[in-house]
Parts: sequence; structure tokens; C-alpha cells
Amino acid sequence: MRILAIETSCDETAIAVLKIKNTRTGENFSILSAQVSSQVSIHRPFGGVVPNLAKREHIKNLPILFKKVLKEITAVDAIAVTSGPGLEPALWTGINFAQELVKKYNLPLVPVNHLEGHIYSAFMHGDKFLIPKNIFPLLTLIVSGGHTELVLTKKHLEHKILGETLDDAAGEAFDKVARMLELPYPGGPEISKLAKKFHNPLNPPYLKGDKYEKLFPRPMINSKDLNFSFSGLKTSVLYYLRDNPKTDKALVAYEFEQAVVDVLVSKTLKAIEKYNPKTVALGGGVAANDKLREELSRKLGAIGHTLLLPEKQFTGDNAAMIAVAAYFKAKAKKFSKPSASRLTIKAEGGLKLTEK
Ligand code: KG4
Ligand code: ZN
Repeated sequence: MRILAIETSCDETAIAVLKIKNTRTGENFSILSAQVSSQVSIHRPFGGVVPNLAKREHIKNLPILFKKVLKEITAVDAIAVTSGPGLEPALWTGINFAQELVKKYNLPLVPVNHLEGHIYSAFMHGDKFLIPKNIFPLLTLIVSGGHTELVLTKKHLEHKILGETLDDAAGEAFDKVARMLELPYPGGPEISKLAKKFHNPLNPPYLKGDKYEKLFPRPMINSKDLNFSFSGLKTSVLYYLRDNPKTDKALVAYEFEQAVVDVLVSKTLKAIEKYNPKTVALGGGVAANDKLREELSRKLGAIGHTLLLPEKQFTGDNAAMIAVAAYFKAKAKKFSKPSASRLTIKAEGGLKLTEK
């Protein structure tokens, strides 16, 4: 099967074509083409994504990216598109473009949940990768700009949300704290870079006597459930900066990042203990964070689990991961016929994972 996928949920315009082969051990994926056009430089002066600018850029970029994959279209079996969650004006540009292709080439249309793409991204390495048959139950920590969720997948397309953020998403907290530190958008990679500059174990200014003094709280780390909260942490950074205007910004970045990682790691371990998954994965934009990758891998290793990590090129939004998720949907025949597609697909900004 060959799938052409389109992703426009936020500020990356992306199109990819994947070839999928079913084998005895699992599904073999080959990326035939993967195009991503980032709008980061357009939104940076505004300190965040401006939905109508994103829409304008997607409309401009989609035909340009499509031209680059055009030679693959004759062998394509289905068109896939992210239908949510995300910014609705941005999602519609991808959906409308997909509808045109569906009509023109008489192909089925597969709507995809963006978060399902992030779940599968953990299996993606290079341009050829295998998703084995026996991965379930699969536990995924999804950490992105809009979501922080622990998801248990019992089989393809059947998920249970074990816990989620009650306020800000992890990536959102990174972006907001970055703004307080006067770092450019997107803030996650900037905070991570600055935090690395701080680390000086020989002379840590946060040591009081020989005791490690945490600057910031770890919200909900001891709560029994698997939910998260990052807005209090963000506020405590704000107060700390107000009360210590001359503070070392690298120290604040380091301590903030550590607080977020501590909570994410602790809740993931709690979920493993409770649900005993066969596979554990990390996905979403914040999965690019080195401290999170290292600490979660190490802590999982200590209890006999291997953490599946997306290659860094697949942590951020991309269309290849959308094609992977679409494949499992197409295989289960969960897509619309060309004639009906116009009526069935709409952008859903707040789309949730299908729970069973
Ligand atoms: O998945 P993604 O590309 O878009 C959404 O679906 O939201 O995630 C974007 C988020 C942004 O908040 C960005 O700051 C964050 O991922 N991010 C990071 C890092 N790289 C990207 N956060 C922490 N550390 C990073 N290295
Ligand atoms: Zn995303």
C-alpha cells in the first residue's frame, strides 16, 4: 500500500509518501518522500503561532511541496490528512487540499488524529523502519505544544487516556517560560540549550551547604492519579524572576527543565507500575528534549524497559507519522469513499483519541 499524507495542524506544512509492506513480523515502512516546510521564522516576531498567518503560509506551501512528491502520485492508494487536534484554520487548509486531490485522482481519504501520528513516531528511524506485531499494550508519553498525555494503546486505533494535563501542556510551559527569559519562539529548544550552559557540577550555586535546593516545585508529582499540571510551575518561575531580577538565566532554565522532566519521568514510571505495558514510547515536540530522553531512558532501563524514542527529525510535526497512522486506519477500512469524503471530513480543533 502507498499513502500520501498531509499535515497542517500547526506551523509546519508537510507532505509525505510512504510505501508499506505487511510481513510476518510486522509492517515495513519506507519513506519515499518527506517534505516539511517550517513557518517558525514567520511566527517568531509574534512570540507564538498566529493562526491566520499559519493558514496563509499553508495555502502558499502546499502546492509547492506537492510538486516535489507529484511523481509518486500515480501509485498512491489513499490520501491521508490530519483532521485534528490543532488550529482549525490551519487544519482546514490541509483538508481542503486533500479533498481536491481525492477528487482529481479518485482516491479514498483517511482522516488522521495528529496524536496518533505522534504515538507511531517513536518507531520511526531513518527512511525504512518496522513496526512489529507484538508491541501491545503500548504506553506512550505524548508531550507537545498542545498536549501532555499518558496513553495506553491496547491495539492499533484503540487507546485509553490514563492521564493528561489539567492546564498547560509541557511544550506550552517551555514556550511561556522561554518568553519570561526573553528567549525566542519556540522556547523549548532555547531553554534546553541555555540549561546545558548552566550545568557546572563543580560549583553549583543552588547548593545550600551540601544540600540540593530545588528552585521550583514539581506539581502533582505525589498525586495518586496520572494527571499533570504545569501552570503553577510557570507561575513560580515568574515570581522567582520578579524577586531575583539579577539571577543567572541559565540557572532558571536548568531548574525549570529539571522540574518538568522530574514530573514527566515520575508519572511515566507510575503508569508502568500500574499497567505493566509491553512497550513504552515517547512522542511529540518535547520528545526532542535531551534531558527528558536521557533521564526517561535511564530510569526505564533500571526497571528492565527500553524506551522507544523517535529520531529527532520525527519529534516535531511531520507528515510521515500521519501516513503511518493512516496506514493502520486504512488497513482496518476506517476511511471514506471518494464520493462521500466531502461530507465526512471536517477540522476538529479539539479532537480526542478514540477511546475503547
Ligand atoms: O509536536 P509539536 O511540534 O507541535 C504540536 O503538536 O504542538 O510540539 C511543539 C512543542 C513546542 O512547545 C516546543 O517548544 C517544544 O515542542 N519543543 C521542545 C524541544 N523542542 C521542541 N521542548 C523542550 N525541549 C526541546 N528540545
Ligand atoms: Zn504535534
